[in-house]
Amino acid sequence: MDYQQLIEEVYHEVKSANPSGKVADYIPELASVDPNQFGMALVDLEGNIFGVGDYQVPFSIQSISKVHTLAMVAHVFKSKLWSRVNVEPSGNPFNSIAQLEFENGIPRNPFINAGALVITDALTSKFDNPIEEVSKFINEISGKECVQINQEVMDSELKHSERNTALGYFLKAYQNFDNKVEDVLKIYVAHCAMEMCCVDLARSFSFLANDGYSIYAKREIVTESMARRINALMLTCGFYDEAGEFAFRVGLPGKSGVGGGVAAVMPHKFSIAVWSPELNEKGNSVKAIMALELLTDKLKFSLF
Ligand code: DON
Repeated sequence: MDYQQLIEEVYHEVKSANPSGKVADYIPELASVDPNQFGMALVDLEGNIFGVGDYQVPFSIQSISKVHTLAMVAHVFKSKLWSRVNVEPSGNPFNSIAQLEFENGIPRNPFINAGALVITDALTSKFDNPIEEVSKFINEISGKECVQINQEVMDSELKHSERNTALGYFLKAYQNFDNKVEDVLKIYVAHCAMEMCCVDLARSFSFLANDGYSIYAKREIVTESMARRINALMLTCGFYDEAGEFAFRVGLPGKSGVGGGVAAVMPHKFSIAVWSPELNEKGNSVKAIMALELLTDKLKFSLF
């Protein structure tokens, strides 16, 4: 399979169709990016890199970082963590509050904001300096020092974090939050404000295509069974209330972020990151989803 030719074909088809959306502006600093940027990078399990477009431009990974943070604390399946957060698709927007009350403070899954806050709370309990640990972890599994925290994006989100603060206090009201809400929120916002380019992001997801083993870190990051579980969660919950649509159109486990990035894996073959800032009404990148749909159509395989 000539991956370079494949992603170039996809790139040009998406460019000429030019589907449009709207750049996220509820985090004001994100609204200042050039909406026309578009890049993709595919990394195979030998570490060969195939890239096209703006694939070396760092962007805000936002919710994609929820996969990294989950991998840092997920290793003990059936541990207390999995009684604090569920593994069901929510069918609701990523920042929804309503379901949390109906379900007694147990978030539906670790990728909606409520669930990700529980994961970041667990990280806060585990590490003295969680932000440094998350950066170190992502650098290790990407094989290089690539993570930068964008301070402006972080400050901008902190100033507009009423909903996430409410979710934190709501979780606390149900005794599902151990640390101070404001402390956890700063860590959550910092990992969301991390910037990486498509190549480094695809490399950081490589262990999930490779049964949990990172060719960059040269170690098992999660067990083979946990890698399958994280992939199952990405497939069923990685796109929030658009997870079914993504599975239907693309058929790969993936995770989106409101910075316009999508990272996805084809187990035992490759990991891929696609980035373009314009989003649909569900908060997922319009061009990235179209590109991945074309990719699996042309490949004639997906998970299915
Ligand atoms: O908490 C938030 O709202 C953002 N930091 C992350 C949301 C996000 O990326 C949703 N994904 N599409």
